[in-house]
Amino acid sequence: MARSIGILTAGGDSPGLNAAIRAVGKAAQRAYGMHVIGFKDGFEGLMQNRFVRLDSDALSGILTKGGTILGTSRAKVDKMEMGDGRRMDMRALMRDVVDQHELEALVVLGGDGTMRNALKLEDVGIRVLALPKTIDNDVTGTDVTFGFDTAMGIATEAIDRLHSTAHSHHRIILAEIMGHDVGWLALGAGLAGGADVILIPEIPYDTNAIASSIQSRKAAGSAFSIVAVAEGAFSKEDAAVRASLLADLETASGEEKITLKEKLGALTSATSARTEKLATTLEGATGLESRVTILGHVQRGGTPSPADRLLATRLGTAAAAYIAEGVHGVMVAARGEATEAVPLKEIAGVTKSVPLDHPWVDSARHLGIVFGD
Ligand code: F6P
Repeated sequence: MARSIGILTAGGDSPGLNAAIRAVGKAAQRAYGMHVIGFKDGFEGLMQNRFVRLDSDALSGILTKGGTILGTSRAKVDKMEMGDGRRMDMRALMRDVVDQHELEALVVLGGDGTMRNALKLEDVGIRVLALPKTIDNDVTGTDVTFGFDTAMGIATEAIDRLHSTAHSHHRIILAEIMGHDVGWLALGAGLAGGADVILIPEIPYDTNAIASSIQSRKAAGSAFSIVAVAEGAFSKEDAAVRASLLADLETASGEEKITLKEKLGALTSATSARTEKLATTLEGATGLESRVTILGHVQRGGTPSPADRLLATRLGTAAAAYIAEGVHGVMVAARGEATEAVPLKEIAGVTKSVPLDHPWVDSARHLGIVFGD
């Protein structure tokens, strides 16, 4: 009986997913004679046993494609939505599906939420290997995640293009960049694109400090500014409100807990409202017109960059080799030129934020780029 493995993609899509599916699948087939199946739409498809055979035809011609040929969804394996408002732990059913296909291992491609799901599936006896993908680059234990380089390229090009129009109209243009709760994308693209101000969640900003830096630029003859804003960035005031809600949540229960969670959710999800409000305040304080550009899902779409294709390919072929060796319960991480199998227990639930002493932050400060702190 040939050895078999399953693959699925979970969480938000990201450039490089198809390159990774191809690499895992082709290496598993060619080097180890394994049969490969792919579950549709993430953990939902695993639960419902919706799958496709990933033979060589299915894996051909997908290297450069954006998105994921398997489809994806956001889910928690121990709290799956049942469609009638209930949430249930469906891991036993998922294990039955894995057993039914006699899968030697399940390869899950995802971000931080997927790492938590992967560990939970290991807990019920499914042998799981995870590959780190996300445009946010917030997965710990790996140098970088695939999808990040492509998204950073798209955001950088957007900043480049915004420069000429901001310059021509003497405007402040705020580019809102994805990244969830971390600032890697805004920092990387802001630095690469020569933004004048970079705002990231790790450094709460003082609106007056940003306004005075823009005024100084204007006085020195540059009557325009580009502000790269991470979607998760907060002013100092909002960050204080958030911190106090989080502190209250620690001890809250029942109705109070629900109300606090709702308040926190509303504050966190109001990304564009925060960016618009900042634009209006800066306009009033500097006398320069302002505009907001929200890059949104453009950053997740389209063909992956060569760097992401290479990374996804390296990690995918390494995953097949680890499966052949019997390794599981790990994330296949990029470490320098090599790959490493990092235990899921060490990384699940840990977010990789931008360290305040990171070399990119240091470079930006040396260039006079303002963080608003
Ligand atoms: O995690 C990737 C990401 O694009 C984040 O940067 C962003 O906050 C989120 O997904 C958007 O999610 P959705 O596609 O579900 O709107």
